[in-house]
Amino acid sequence: MTRTGPPAAHGGIAMARTYVVTGAASGIGRATVHLLTALDHVVVTLDRHDADVVADLSTPAGRAEAVEGVRAATGGIVDAVIASAGLALPEPATVAVNYFGTVATLEGLRPMLAAGTHPRAVVVSSMASFQANDAALVDACLAGDEPHALEVAAKLAGAEDTANLIYSSTKAALNRWMRRVATTPEWAGAHVPLNAVGPGVVLTPMTEGWTSSAEGRAFLEQVVPMPLTGFMAPEQVAAVLVFLASEENSAMTGQVVFVDGGSDVVLRGETAW
Ligand SMILES: NC(=O)c1ccc[n+]([C@@H]2O[C@H](COP(=O)([O-])OP(=O)(O)OC[C@H]3O[C@@H](n4cnc5c(N)ncnc54)[C@H](O)[C@@H]3O)[C@@H](O)[C@H]2O)c1
Repeated sequence: MTRTGPPAAHGGIAMARTYVVTGAASGIGRATVHLLTALDHVVVTLDRHDADVVADLSTPAGRAEAVEGVRAATGGIVDAVIASAGLALPEPATVAVNYFGTVATLEGLRPMLAAGTHPRAVVVSSMASFQANDAALVDACLAGDEPHALEVAAKLAGAEDTANLIYSSTKAALNRWMRRVATTPEWAGAHVPLNAVGPGVVLTPMTEGWTSSAEGRAFLEQVVPMPLTGFMAPEQVAAVLVFLASEENSAMTGQVVFVDGGSDVVLRGETAW
């Protein structure tokens, strides 16, 4: 567990909370860990490497290890989960991590959140969730049929013009799962707000392949116009994640908050919200 300094005091000052952050070793997850520890919270980091709980969220066995690892690290009491682990590869593994890994994380940790104080959960989606996707892949995800979803993704991966639908499909499915369950007895009924953020282009290792070349940057600027910020720093997303996972977020649930420098507005216009 990561913590700097003594726990925050009682009496008007927020108390330290226990957070689980997935994808904590890099990018948005890592920036979120830094912000939470600077605020004196306890953070249990989860990732494939360099984390308190080392687990592979692409497999059912790894997901079970992740949940058990968090239970061992926290004693089974968690105040907030921020699920940032993800891949942006045009491959089936992206489906396994982004959708099935994230859903398993949230479902597996939900009983520990129920034991927490002012529990909150946030998933990291993407502005890609409103871009073109593959309906069969989204449906297979939402049906919870991982073998079929991986099969559909393997077919999409075989052709260049369909491979790019894999990532957007995982994020569309994740948003829909989140909105489907957020108001159920298990989440809203248990007083656990569940929300998503939809970042635009964030400067992390995930996007380095594009942002490190002039051609890649020009491509991204065209596909993801961000008039407010240009490409963002991970800290700009972390600040919103930390708010959504805080006690102060008491009434917002089932929302996808686009932290995207304006790409949602540019691409979808004034009538989408
Ligand atoms: N960077 C962007 O522009 C951008 C934009 C929109 C959404 N996102 C989303 O933000 C999240 C974080 O992305 P990032 O930019 O910080 O990327 P990143 O590559 O810097 O970090 C992702 C982290 O997830 C971990 N991870 C990947 N597969 C895993 C697995 N099988 N098991 C456990 N951990 C695993 C990686 O090890 C890594 O530490 C992702 O869900 C991504 O889809 C990123």
